Amino acid sequence: MDESLESSVGSTILAVSHEQAWQDTVRGAIDAHRAERGALMPILHTIQRELGCVDSAVIPILAKELNLSRADVHGVVTFYRDFRKEPAGATTVRICRAEACQSVGAERLAEAAKSRLGVGFGETTVDGRVTLEQTFCFGNCALGPAVQVGDRLHGRVDPSRLAALLEVDR
Ligand code: FES
Repeated sequence: MDESLESSVGSTILAVSHEQAWQDTVRGAIDAHRAERGALMPILHTIQRELGCVDSAVIPILAKELNLSRADVHGVVTFYRDFRKEPAGATTVRICRAEACQSVGAERLAEAAKSRLGVGFGETTVDGRVTLEQTFCFGNCALGPAVQVGDRLHGRVDPSRLAALLEVDR
């Protein structure tokens, strides 16, 4: 077999097995929760946990399997910020924009983060390393502005401290 044909066949096999794994995960999530009351939410959470996001391709499948309209499923997926359309970057940075943090500089911090990373909230840097998100209270209000980098919560973060945190993580 010539080399380019071999490589093309290899890519096709990989794509088919990836598609199969995706289908298996979605079907597994449906089967695990279908009998529950309000099955849609646990199914969506399972899909997000296992696949890293809730791809729009799952909407018609869930609608059919749960006997819901596509609009109903789409409405739930887009209403809850937890459900991502694409997988997050290697590290997620969350900036609190609730009132107490806003009163001590969260907005300035948010602008600094967007400018430094070159992305808006809900977006991931081109290199796939950082996803920037906003949140509304970590319960760390006395130490605002509060920022979570990965699993670690940081208090009294100003733009220069944020820059240092992002640098360490890159
Ligand atoms: S308002 Fe930011 S942690 Fe509570």
